[in-house]
Amino acid sequence: MNVAVFPGSFDPLTNGHVDIVERSLFLFDRVVVGVLANPSKTPLFSPDERVALIEAQFKRNKRVKAQAFDGLLVSFAKKIGAKTIIRGLRAISDYDYETQMALTNRKLAPKLETVFLVAREENSYISSTVVKQVAKYGGDVSGFVPKVVEKALRNVFER
Ligand code: PNS
Repeated sequence: MNVAVFPGSFDPLTNGHVDIVERSLFLFDRVVVGVLANPSKTPLFSPDERVALIEAQFKRNKRVKAQAFDGLLVSFAKKIGAKTIIRGLRAISDYDYETQMALTNRKLAPKLETVFLVAREENSYISSTVVKQVAKYGGDVSGFVPKVVEKALRNVFER
């Protein structure tokens, strides 16, 4: 079984992330969306909430699973039997950070390969950070995130 891990903060899941997962399914048997539980920035959604939103979005697809992880990505990948890390590339500005991570991960785990999927044009400007800003000030995020996330954002900011 060819398992890949798609790691990230997913705070929250966006249409860009959904597209990367769906396209990864053409390449891999199973995709585990790895939700970093301890990012340096304070997240809007807890790890459990982020996992639940991803599971809700992909509930009809048994080949996609979401799981929170702590610590090094390479250790998590080993634990779940993933041989590939998937990351999405939006613009050239992502390149520096992404190659730095890929090279670090390769040094730590030489057999673990990183594969970059280029974001679709229509998703190439979407980020979780911008989505949160728009939602915070009452803007329409329906074009940026799945329905289940839109609802969750509304719940948070209407509180
Ligand atoms: O969505 P993000 O915030 O760009 O995802 C970054 C993530 C989670 C992939 C990265 O921070 C990560 O892998 N963190 C785990 C710690 C780790 O393994 N660090 C060494 C490689 S940079």
